[in-house]
Amino acid sequence: MIRFRALTKQYGPLEAVRDLTLGVAPGEVYALLGPNGAGKTSALRCLATLLTPTSGTAFVNGIDVREDPLDARRRLAFLAASMGLYERLSARELVAYFGRLHGLRGAPLDARVSELVELFGIAPFADRLCGRLSTGQRQRVSLARALVHDPPALVLDEPTLGLDVVSGQAIYDFIARERTRGKAILFSTHRMTEVELLADRVGVLRLGELVAEGTPGELVSSTGQENLARAFLHLVGGAEGR
Ligand SMILES: Nc1ncnc2c1ncn2[C@@H]1O[C@H](COP(=O)(O)OP(=O)(O)OP(=O)(O)O)[C@@H](O)[C@H]1O
Ligand SMILES: [Mg+2]
Repeated sequence: MIRFRALTKQYGPLEAVRDLTLGVAPGEVYALLGPNGAGKTSALRCLATLLTPTSGTAFVNGIDVREDPLDARRRLAFLAASMGLYERLSARELVAYFGRLHGLRGAPLDARVSELVELFGIAPFADRLCGRLSTGQRQRVSLARALVHDPPALVLDEPTLGLDVVSGQAIYDFIARERTRGKAILFSTHRMTEVELLADRVGVLRLGELVAEGTPGELVSSTGQENLARAFLHLVGGAEGR
């Protein structure tokens, strides 16, 4: 499971995330929404141990990310569109390289790499250098790389950014399947259709603060709006630009 406990992240005087508390259970998909600059990436990067919280903390399967970041890291997959790939490795080599970093060797490593290459439709470009891949191809390889150790918590920062419909659908199918395997899944997005399709629960960040949380249906009814997009606008109205 995933849990934030009163997590605050400041960059100098700017409070990017303020006193964030939320939890994602095993088998649950949680969508984090918020306008540009609301603090989604900052929160997810704190969880993924890539940033240190200013105060408060977060837990991955009960492991405190501040006390034991390496152990927490082993229990999660973090995906971000901006993540670099080693341009001089082929897609297959890159996934295998990260598998070795997680301690996989020999036949189990080969089997896991083949499974991921198949799962994400990487086969047609598996032997091409990462530096030559298209955006969607890179995203599929990034996903395979992030998941090579099959961790219980998945943290995905805008997983379908820049992807075409086919690649996006592959990611939706993947998220739905991982949910049935009992993974705790936290993802950020700007696409309401994605939220309606995937999310069991939604949290809305506005200027770093969680201003609403519930099922998509609950957010629609509690705001008295006719759909999720309008509920979202109602909740974050006037929060853009900081
Ligand atoms: N390294 C940094 N130094 C200073 N300010 C930062 C840094 N990273 C982010 N910020 C600021 O913190 C705030 C939150 O940024 P963050 O990237 O977490 O937002 P976001 O919700 O992910 O937005 P988007 O939807 O555009 O991805 C923004 O105002 C941003 O400019
Ligand atoms: Mg972001």
